Amino acid sequence: MTRHRIAVLAGDFIGPEVVDATLEVLEALTPRAGLTFDFTPLPFGGHAIDHHGAPLPEVTKAGVLEADAVLMGSAGGPVGDHPWNRLPRALRVESGILDLRRHLGVYANLRPVAVFAGLEHLSPLKPEIARGTDLLIVRELTGGIYFGKPSQNGPDRGVSTDVYERYEVERIARSAFEAARLRRGRVTSVDKANVLDVSQFWRDVVVGVHAAEFPDVTLDHLYVDNAAMQLVRDPRAFDVVVTANLFGDILSDLAAVLPGSLGVLPSASLGGRIGLYEPVHGSAPDIAGRDLANPTGTLLSAAMMLRFGLGAPAAADALEGAVRAALAEDPTRDLGGTRGTAAFTAAVVAALPARVATGDPGATAAAD
Ligand code: NAD
Ligand code: IPM
Ligand code: MN
Repeated sequence: MTRHRIAVLAGDFIGPEVVDATLEVLEALTPRAGLTFDFTPLPFGGHAIDHHGAPLPEVTKAGVLEADAVLMGSAGGPVGDHPWNRLPRALRVESGILDLRRHLGVYANLRPVAVFAGLEHLSPLKPEIARGTDLLIVRELTGGIYFGKPSQNGPDRGVSTDVYERYEVERIARSAFEAARLRRGRVTSVDKANVLDVSQFWRDVVVGVHAAEFPDVTLDHLYVDNAAMQLVRDPRAFDVVVTANLFGDILSDLAAVLPGSLGVLPSASLGGRIGLYEPVHGSAPDIAGRDLANPTGTLLSAAMMLRFGLGAPAAADALEGAVRAALAEDPTRDLGGTRGTAAFTAAVVAALPARVATGDPGATAAAD
């Protein structure tokens, strides 16, 4: 039987809640799909600062490299004044998240946004606008203004630098065009080329990669301000959106409104040897410890891990199907339902098929 080693970085506040829910579902799913997982919890985030002196301690840096995939919850403290937010930049939780992404070399952050058939009523948009939304944000994750130098918070001057190298734009453009070939064949590149030189460079490189390697894919361009508006006005117009690190961060939270809650959006960060799978949302200190966290984003991230990281697409389908069924019955409160985290998780487990008929290369014959 194939054993998969999963490094588990639960994080802070609701991070451990959504991760525990996901591990419970995976423990129920894997034997039915002929899979065996070894979960290795590793310290990460604010708790790691308190107990190990850094948000991404050495033990975690080494541990993730031993794994086949990394499953992460979310890390960080309350927005506003908090000891973790008063640390020097390099020691802050968010720097640990950025360091982890660079450490794994996962430059391509895939954030799918789908309004599932029959679940349009969960969207705050009119059902006729939300219906059929199925887009993929491909966010550049290891470059741009998040990492550019110089960077400085001085007494009289603040500086961040937005910089992209040609190879960074070329490889993320390829990720987007390749994804589009497996979807509806359309890429929208989002930038601010009317104002920023770095964005004009981005656009020129994307155009070059398209012309040279992907003429079969349709490419168009939007300025980021207009893109934000169009995503809400007519989300079905989008197939694949490719954009820089900061724009992708903002647009993906905005797009979370389409299915109804930030709690439902998953992500996969790829491009290195080991993938990183984490929900789009943060640690939500405002709802932590109250059985209010929606584990859907983490569950669907685990499905992306099964599909992209572990070669187990049938198990991924089974997990996604069970999440959809539980959402249709009665979702969590952020989506207007009545269930808490525990009851929703139990409903997902109950909706799993008794056996996953699998030809998955990542699995052996399903256990009886
Ligand atoms: P947040 O995503 O934590 O919360 C925003 C809002 O969405 C809150 O009202 C919260 O209650 C709600 N929400 C988020 N996830 C939810 C879920 N699963 N179920 C139900 N409701 C949910 O964003 P924030 O408040 O801006 O940030 C809080 C902390 O999280 C900060 O320290 C931030 O840096 C960090 N953060 C971490 C990650 C990560 O670990 N990848 C991502 C984003 C933010
Ligand atoms: C996300 C988060 C992170 C980001 C922060 C917490 C570093 O907002 O994953 O979307 O900006 O990438
Ligand atoms: Mn974000």
